[in-house]
Amino acid sequence: MSTNKNVGSTDARLREAQRLSTLLDVSQALAGLDLKASLHRVLEILAAQYGAVRGLVSLVDADGDLRLVAADGTGDSARAVRYRMGEGITGRAVQSGKPIVVPRVSREPAFLHRAARRPELARQELSFICVPIVLSRRAVGALAIDVTFDPERTFNRSVKFLGIVASMIAQAVKIHRLIEEDKRRLADENAHLRQELRERYEMSNMVGGGSGPMRQIYEQVAQVAASNTTVLIRGESGTGKELIAHAIHYNSLRAKKPFVKVSCAALPDSLIESELFGYEKGAFTGAESRKKGRFELAEGGTLFLDEIGDINLATQVKLLRVLQEREFERVGGTETLKANVRLIAATNKDLEKAMAAGSFREDLYYRLNVFTLFVPPLRERKPDLLTLADHFLEKFAREHGRPIKRISTPAIDMLASYHWPGNVRELENAIERAVLMCDGEVIHGHHLPPSLQTAEASGTVTRVSLKDAIVAYEKDLIQDALKTTRGNRAKAARLLDTTERIINYKVRTYDIDARRFRS
Ligand SMILES: Nc1ncnc2c1ncn2[C@@H]1O[C@H](COP(=O)(O)OP(=O)(O)OP(=O)(O)O)[C@@H](O)[C@H]1O
Ligand SMILES: [Mg+2]
Repeated sequence: MSTNKNVGSTDARLREAQRLSTLLDVSQALAGLDLKASLHRVLEILAAQYGAVRGLVSLVDADGDLRLVAADGTGDSARAVRYRMGEGITGRAVQSGKPIVVPRVSREPAFLHRAARRPELARQELSFICVPIVLSRRAVGALAIDVTFDPERTFNRSVKFLGIVASMIAQAVKIHRLIEEDKRRLADENAHLRQELRERYEMSNMVGGGSGPMRQIYEQVAQVAASNTTVLIRGESGTGKELIAHAIHYNSLRAKKPFVKVSCAALPDSLIESELFGYEKGAFTGAESRKKGRFELAEGGTLFLDEIGDINLATQVKLLRVLQEREFERVGGTETLKANVRLIAATNKDLEKAMAAGSFREDLYYRLNVFTLFVPPLRERKPDLLTLADHFLEKFAREHGRPIKRISTPAIDMLASYHWPGNVRELENAIERAVLMCDGEVIHGHHLPPSLQTAEASGTVTRVSLKDAIVAYEKDLIQDALKTTRGNRAKAARLLDTTERIINYKVRTYDIDARRFRS
């Protein structure tokens, strides 16, 4: 008798250990990121280690209905099963927040048999145990299992055990919902920011276009945006090249994908390749993990290479390859990556000159030069000037809360006669300064920057000394002669009716590079 008792308690201890190990497995299964897969795994564990012949997890959805989210041991788990709150045993368990046990399923009229059982279970007598999944004292779903009917079975322990599993599931559901909420919030925020960006760079926000050359630019932007063509934007500093690059992207089919900018001039030669193409772990000292380059970050979208005239020859070769073959490797990597990227490049450099000097590759130049947009300097866009000035006036008056209404006629004349070496950027700064200086409703001449105060003189008339003018003239004459004689100084001297000794002297003092004219 006593031996019997001992065996019994050993059995109980074994069962206890078994249950603990099952709980451990369950908690590990629930650590996954995919909630459905995790729940399914839990049901599989209950089947393998707890003798569940079928398992179900239902969760309350946004409409307040119960929806089957994981099933194991059913005929067709793919079927969408739903209960209304309070409907069937599961619905009742959730509504009441209390576990329900059906010792003999065949005798229970409330049993709905909505979730299928495997056909071979159809004739078997089963017991059904259903426990609610409770979060912050509210039932958010239910865990239910079938076990084979056993008249001797008491359900107390099972209900307790499943209660623990259900509370672990509740925690997983909670975390999952927090993550989902976060994701949704981020997605909303993202959509909002994208919308804002698009609005900001919509073509209607690009002011001007009244003048012939600018209108032509807008037409070209509209024309080229939809294609995947590489675009080269050329123009002086501050003419709006970056704005145009944005406009092309946000009016293209890639608008929803990233627009990634690389300022080539700002990156030292040693960094530019790894910035563009990324690197593998250990590619160089300090490369502690793999890093994606801008080509990868711009995948599906547009890569804007600003100041392309400044990249070194080695990088030019790599860039040429991406343009030709649409593929590249990370620095220190062997894997070849495909680049689905539209390229827009911009420069204020004279690329033809750079090519002649050997600092820009000719083949790259022709690859980039597929569709070139020349943005004219502001001084050649007089009709745009006033439209832009008005636009900036309104913008900065609003931004700084000033009640400024207009620009006086003399001030307008000053704007119009200035030569704007810094183009639209300089105009933008000048107007912002004027807005800050102005204490009334009208911008007057004296509110404009000092560089404009003498505009009428400095913009049109050159003020140089006689000596400087003569030097410039002399230098020009010698360069011309050297060009004609292809760098031959003796011939150039004869052409200018002087001696070779004097030509040599002037070439030295004026720092003329005579070799340039040899060919
Ligand atoms: N058509 C325009 N309408 C409104 N703002 C403009 C326009 N063109 C240029 N700007 C403004 O002028 C400034 C300079 O433009 P942007 O940076 O595009 O010039 P950039 O050609 O890229 O100059 P850089 O060569 O110096 O980089 C920006 O603040 C831009 O918003
Ligand atoms: Mg720029």
